[in-house]
Amino acid sequence: MSEMAGFLGLAYLWVKAAHVTFVLFWIAGLFLLPRFYVYHHETAPGSAEDRAWTAREDRVRRIILMPAMLVVWVLGLMLALHIDAFAMGWFHGKLALVIALSAYQGWLSVYGKRLAAGKRPLENKTLRLINELPGIAAALIVVLVIVKPF
Ligand code: HEM
Repeated sequence: MSEMAGFLGLAYLWVKAAHVTFVLFWIAGLFLLPRFYVYHHETAPGSAEDRAWTAREDRVRRIILMPAMLVVWVLGLMLALHIDAFAMGWFHGKLALVIALSAYQGWLSVYGKRLAAGKRPLENKTLRLINELPGIAAALIVVLVIVKPF
């Protein structure tokens, strides 16, 4: 069966290109925000610098992370319908990892609100460690979708 046979027809490759482009924006935002949190951690609660980091973090969430995640999901599900991926093992693994990435973004939002309230719940070292997770997940997702090992 040709890849163009699904409901997207000839638009399939354009949709996939747009999907991967917004994946780049999403993953870039998931790397950037925890980095901001590490620097924010070092500011005194209530200081001008503290408020400046809170504003920067809010912009990353509203302008990059949320729109990019939504577009990645919508285009990804369109691609999944087009190639009928729901029955494929690699896609189940990929979906589990992207749900985990989306949950991680949810945690980042909650943590950002606590930072904005002047709290510093985690050690910087822990925050840097957590920051490695999206990179590992992204690498596994790319292997699953390109190699399709199962
Ligand atoms: C959010 C939910 C997501 C869904 C439902 C989804 C679904 C899909 C589907 C069905 C395809 C087409 C596969 C094919 O044509 O063979 C695809 C392509 C791709 N996806 Fe996703 N995806 C999602 C998120 C992501 C994320 C987070 C990444 C990377 C971190 C990613 C990376 C890719 C890549 C690199 C391709 C192109 C693969 C190729 O050309 O063979 N996707 N995605």
